[in-house]
Amino acid sequence: MENFVVSARKYRPQEFDTVVGQSHITDTLEHAIEENQLAQALLFCGPRGVGKTTCARILARKINEKDGTTSEDGFAYNIFELDAASNNSVDDIRGLIDQVRYAPQVGKYKVYIIDEVHMLSSQAFNAFLKTLEEPPKHAIFILATTEKHKIIPTILSRCQIYDFKRIAIEDIQNHLRKIADKENIKYEDDALYLIAQKADGALRDALSIFDRLATFTQKNITLANAAEILNVLDYDQYLKIAELAYDNDIPKILSVFNDIINKGFDSQIFIAGLGSHFRNLMLSQNPATLHLIEVGENSKSKFAEQGKKWTPQQLVTAIEICSQADINYKNSKNPRLTVEIALMQLSSITADGKSSAKKKSLE
Ligand SMILES: Nc1ncnc2c1ncn2[C@@H]1O[C@H](COP(=O)(O)OP(=O)(O)OP(=O)(O)O)[C@@H](O)[C@H]1O
Ligand SMILES: [Mg+2]
Repeated sequence: MENFVVSARKYRPQEFDTVVGQSHITDTLEHAIEENQLAQALLFCGPRGVGKTTCARILARKINEKDGTTSEDGFAYNIFELDAASNNSVDDIRGLIDQVRYAPQVGKYKVYIIDEVHMLSSQAFNAFLKTLEEPPKHAIFILATTEKHKIIPTILSRCQIYDFKRIAIEDIQNHLRKIADKENIKYEDDALYLIAQKADGALRDALSIFDRLATFTQKNITLANAAEILNVLDYDQYLKIAELAYDNDIPKILSVFNDIINKGFDSQIFIAGLGSHFRNLMLSQNPATLHLIEVGENSKSKFAEQGKKWTPQQLVTAIEICSQADINYKNSKNPRLTVEIALMQLSSITADGKSSAKKKSLE
């Protein structure tokens, strides 16, 4: 059997132009290498899984490539990686500092990548400072961290700082599409959108969710099975609930809610999600706000269709009802009832946009 390589490793970019969503950084780095303006100490910071280590490695290779060193082995010798999470003592840093003094055998630069640099002990930081202040000409340091605020100012002030960003949902979705095509994995586009959304800006997380889903679904990732495995309510469920509310069908809406709870969904997440759904319907009513809806294209058109039925006033009322239930939820002795009341109120919204159930309950 072929060895399975996780996508995050298999698809680690080897060139700056294949790094997704960080062009503000890759362009600058490329330019700096080109113009020989690269600082000797760089700090890569930003959330996890967005390409810091990847860019550090590409940079390390490029610097020596420019110098004309072509042997793959030559580069490998010139790149030193220290994972500060597991090597954070003064001795580890001293070991590194000792090596720094010697010029490289092949190529012009020795590149030191210190990952998770915020994990260094304070003595280790101090030992490192002097080297960072006056590094030998052939040494370049790339420090990477997810926690910039933990880096002492004396280090910060000696580094050129590069802030990596969370990666946009569409960019992640696009990247997943390419990988799915290469791997012959069937997918619904909105399922990839959901994965991207769930990854919260981290491409590595998106790739590992993607791998998991590809395995579970035997290489056929649909929106419904992605939603089920990720334990998120699929948009269709919200569409259905909203439809029942529109039809004023209280018995049915309560029973659908019961099914949802029985599947193990958290009812507070449900009611907050339903609020977002009504918000999405509102946004779908106007082309100027359509782009604010964070769902895949296919679901977006379903929202637009459902959105047409509701008046803006009805939607405002619906959003308020959901939001109020979300607020009341934590203090309620019977949170399930809190959500059910909201569903009944939603199912009692009249043509003039008021909720008859709500009005009565207030009287
Ligand atoms: N911007 C990106 N473009 C393309 N692939 C990416 C990007 N960011 C992350 N990846 C994918 O995720 C994997 C992990 O990325 P990387 O190690 O560079 O993240 P990191 O920012 O160093 O994260 P950490 O803070 O956890 O160390 C890569 O091998 C690659 O497959
Ligand atoms: Mg890293």
